[in-house]
Amino acid sequence: TMNAAIAVLAAYLIGSLSFAVIVSRLMGLNDPRTYGSKNPGATNVLRSGNKKAAVLTLLFDALKGYLPVLLAVLYGERLGLGEGVAAVVGLAAFVGHLFPVFFRFQGGKGVATAAGVLLGINLWLGMATLATWLIIAFFFRYSSLASLAAAVFAPFYQLLIWGAGPVLGAILAMSLLLIWRHAPNIRKLIEGKESKIGQKAGSAA
Ligand code: G3P
Repeated sequence: TMNAAIAVLAAYLIGSLSFAVIVSRLMGLNDPRTYGSKNPGATNVLRSGNKKAAVLTLLFDALKGYLPVLLAVLYGERLGLGEGVAAVVGLAAFVGHLFPVFFRFQGGKGVATAAGVLLGINLWLGMATLATWLIIAFFFRYSSLASLAAAVFAPFYQLLIWGAGPVLGAILAMSLLLIWRHAPNIRKLIEGKESKIGQKAGSAA
């Protein structure tokens, strides 16, 4: 429907707000695309040494996934949006983060935004996935490894608890895109060259 197309487009535009770049610019910090992994995301902003900027990036990148989904869930019926549209709206915000129209389509890896989307789809799904991230991050101290594990588990949580359907399809698509965006991280993990959480940019690996 027309309304669904508008919702998806709006979510894509909101997702295109690359908060790692925006927050860094507002706080007078270096552009995260110039140091560390060069990724515009909270993990890399943390490598600047500014924790507040990293937390703000994480929060706003997650919110831009959470809010569109929440709105689609709350007003979907009134707007005549079919089942599963909320998840597709979330996928659109996620794609916006990866390929932001406002930043020459050079975006991030989608971890925070995906977390927001999952929390919007279902609080339990989001929390189970977040817990997965936290457990791996706690034991291994690699943000990328925790993100990859969470991306692998999220579709299984959805499948086991709610079964197959359009929502599962959207989550699978997010996971596959997220894993694909982590190709450089996977390479570094295998080579033992990935930097640990909180390790500053420029410091020895
Ligand atoms: O969450 C993003 C993280 O998984 C990887 O970020 O900067 O280490 O490539 P980065």
